[in-house]
Amino acid sequence: MRRIVCAAGAAALAAALAVSAAAHDHEHATGVVKERMIAMENMGKRLKAINERIRGKRDLAAIKADADAVAELAAHVTHLFPSGSMQHPTQARSSIWQNWSDFERRAVALQAASRKLAETDPGDADAITAQARALSQVYDEMDRL
Ligand code: HEM
Repeated sequence: MRRIVCAAGAAALAAALAVSAAAHDHEHATGVVKERMIAMENMGKRLKAINERIRGKRDLAAIKADADAVAELAAHVTHLFPSGSMQHPTQARSSIWQNWSDFERRAVALQAASRKLAETDPGDADAITAQARALSQVYDEMDRL
């Protein structure tokens, strides 16, 4: 499903978040398309920072701020996809609006997982690692739904 819903996100994340390439696209984007590209890029940076802290086993207390930010962005993400907002250079597909309730469910699932991560005790390295993995998995599984 990520190919349908979050194709650009998957590609950017797979390339260790090719933020500079995405930023290049933003120069040509306007209005709500630009706004959502910036929001997605921000989510990408936050998710990357979370995963780096988990991998490096450092700064676990700083994960909360990133997880809160992802939850906040996820809470508003559907507003950034008004019907028919398919202007260049969007990669959003019309299937988003054909399967709108699915799209909303994805945003809710991501919000729940990031909220849960934000609420996990950073002193409990195992718990925070498990919850960070769960968040990444929710994001990855957007591909398969
Ligand atoms: C941690 C969560 C997420 C990350 C890391 C992420 C990352 C990204 C990135 C990096 C892009 C590329 C933006 C660009 O072209 O500059 C993108 C695009 C996109 N994402 Fe996400 N995303 C997340 C959550 C979501 C959610 C919850 C949804 C929908 C429910 C979603 C739907 C989309 C769509 C439709 C696009 C294409 C937008 C367009 O080209 O107009 N993403 N995402």
